[in-house]
Amino acid sequence: MDKLIIEGGVPLKGTIRVSGSKNAALPILMACLLAETPVRLDNVPRLRDIRTTLKLLNILGCETEFEDNTVRSQVVGLKPEAPYELVKTMRASVLCLGPLLALLGEARVALPGGCAIGARPVDLHLKALERMGATFELTSGYILGRCGKLQGAHITFDFPTVGGTENLLMAASLAQGETILENAAREPEVADLADFLNACGAKISGQGTSVIRIQGVSRLTGCDYRVMPDRIEAGTYLCAAPITHGELELLECPFQELDALVYKLREMGVWVQEEGDRVIVRRDGDLVGVDVTTQPHPGFPTDMQAQLMALMCLAKGAGSIQEKIFENRFMHVLELVRLGANIKLKDRTAMVRGVPKLVGAPVMASDLRASASLVLAGLAAEGVTEVQRIYHLDRGYENIEAKLSAVGARIRRVPEE
Ligand code: UD1
Repeated sequence: MDKLIIEGGVPLKGTIRVSGSKNAALPILMACLLAETPVRLDNVPRLRDIRTTLKLLNILGCETEFEDNTVRSQVVGLKPEAPYELVKTMRASVLCLGPLLALLGEARVALPGGCAIGARPVDLHLKALERMGATFELTSGYILGRCGKLQGAHITFDFPTVGGTENLLMAASLAQGETILENAAREPEVADLADFLNACGAKISGQGTSVIRIQGVSRLTGCDYRVMPDRIEAGTYLCAAPITHGELELLECPFQELDALVYKLREMGVWVQEEGDRVIVRRDGDLVGVDVTTQPHPGFPTDMQAQLMALMCLAKGAGSIQEKIFENRFMHVLELVRLGANIKLKDRTAMVRGVPKLVGAPVMASDLRASASLVLAGLAAEGVTEVQRIYHLDRGYENIEAKLSAVGARIRRVPEE
């Protein structure tokens, strides 16, 4: 296991290119199972979760090649089982359920267990697939799904689940007749999946809104597709400039998808502007605390909560962050406190009182975005911060040390004893 050693206090200056989106690439890779002919995907980030997904695709009967940031895939003979060894390392594995049911009428997918940020059940995925004619049994830790030809249905989600909407988009693309998804997730990554499916011959409209219509087709064929840039990675670097009193230029930054974050950053006193194909971000004066509530898109993303909290630790005055999506997503709080932050936690709300400085210390990463917030805090802290267990970070940030070093950060990876 590796750790990151960060000597804080250097204002970051320079240009960072945003990588392809992990959360768009994962469902799109699963959707490659649906294409009868080869697919070529560009802008796929080189991350641990992507390698896990490729392993899963291989087990399910899809051959893949991953070179630079391009994945080529071709289905050779599908098998219905996603084993626990892979599913337990990545919840998004459950996204193979929709494609397998649509293609084979059968799926055996390990039930994802709890994870560090909460229970995260898949009941909404199953309920919606049942509406299309699937039946499920839970035995020996596996979801056993069966169906004849899936039938189009009118489905209203109890909650706009991202993964649930994605599973249904894939299942409904090859179903008999029309499926209408109401209260669907509006996340840009869901729309990117729908655009990919359409490029393969699907008939989906309304993606990016809460009502999505899918007209089932009899087959999907391969295409060339470029995965959208990662808005959460971009958002993390939008916090890295002001937390270090630096100035960054981001290339390929999906600025339109970052509205809720940009609104809060500006309210805090961060200068951020889109100029042509670049986004410039810097801090001019003091930062002020703000109140934030995480919401489904287009609200403030839960995946940016921890990073914004790191920034708020160094603002003037108090602010609050209320977490409404996941019940246990505050594991970074006590680690930030170890660096000198003043944060009080009550139920699902963190009250953050700004302090004049943070001081480096050893801290432990507990999940992906928590790790990113500790890296940000370490970049700003006086002295040396050691971020342990950074394998979480490697699930979601492509070349993070290289990207940060290139803009002046003193950051290096060393093996943990
Ligand atoms: C996706 C993202 C994750 C992000 C989250 C919310 C990927 C790979 N992951 O996760 O980074 O934080 O969206 O934006 O894209 N829920 C249920 N039952 C279900 C499904 C969900 O109760 O069947 C609950 C979850 O426990 C959670 C909430 O709904 O509390 C949101 O989950 P969901 O939108 O499905 O998130 P994911 O797709 O898991």
